[in-house]
Amino acid sequence: MESHKNVFQKFETSHIKKIIMVASGKGGVGKSTVASGIALSLANQGYNVGLLDADIHGPSIPTLFHVTNIALESIQKDGDTKIVPFERHKIKIMSIGFFVESHKAVVWRGPMVTKVLNQLMNDTDWGDLDYLIIDTPPGTGDVHITLLQQYAISGVVLVTTPQKVALADVHKAIDMFRSPKIGAPVLGIVENMAWFSPHNHPEEKYYIFGQGGGKLLAEEWNIPLLSHIPIHEKVRDYCDEGEVQKIVDDSILSKPFNNLVNKIK
Ligand SMILES: Nc1ncnc2c1ncn2[C@@H]1O[C@H](COP(=O)(O)OP(=O)(O)O)[C@@H](O)[C@H]1O
Ligand SMILES: [Mg+2]
Repeated sequence: MESHKNVFQKFETSHIKKIIMVASGKGGVGKSTVASGIALSLANQGYNVGLLDADIHGPSIPTLFHVTNIALESIQKDGDTKIVPFERHKIKIMSIGFFVESHKAVVWRGPMVTKVLNQLMNDTDWGDLDYLIIDTPPGTGDVHITLLQQYAISGVVLVTTPQKVALADVHKAIDMFRSPKIGAPVLGIVENMAWFSPHNHPEEKYYIFGQGGGKLLAEEWNIPLLSHIPIHEKVRDYCDEGEVQKIVDDSILSKPFNNLVNKIK
């Protein structure tokens, strides 16, 4: 495991055993899908899991879990007001999307991002968690910096697709997470949309976005390549329907997610 001298003062989060960030160089590579898959697979294994959607520009966890238009409740605990997270499929879910109107652009400056993120992290009644999985915006911005500086992040899972443009952006992300001052351990790379297999010919693999990109990146940075996730129309269907849990209920689709989780838990 890499050692970091992340020197910033951290919020107290001893009620959460491990905080794992899911990040990527660019958008649309499957970060939210992978973050959800990790959370669901862990919850299936009996762990207490929280899932925080911190993607200010495109919060999609509410859609994937079909939790739009809900009224969040708050409770009093030890003199503090805490927000009760939404619970679905045994996962405690909180999203920055619950606090912004959908279809409206979020134009928050850094300090506002930090403030809202800290509320989501600290004012949510997470209870005792084994894992808090955080879905982050693409790239490396205010959200990542706030999380790395102010919380004890156990590790980062990087999601990429095999094509070169996606990989180029991941280099920048790795560079930030490896930075001695604010870095956190990079647990590994997930290559999503690695290939396509036709439904009737599952033995055939078509490398639509190229091949071997994740492996190259892993070797270059000496980071484990955790999992290859194929392109499957059911993944998109389930996500669009707000039935993301069906991914881990499916005997074939669940495999790459369970393998991934077993390597990082
Ligand atoms: N392995 C996959 N097979 C098919 N569709 C996928 C796969 N991974 C992600 N998708 C779809 O691609 C789109 C982008 O995925 P998403 O997880 O929202 O990416 P990000 O969070 O990085 O922007 C979504 O419509 C999702 O359902
Ligand atoms: Mg997303």
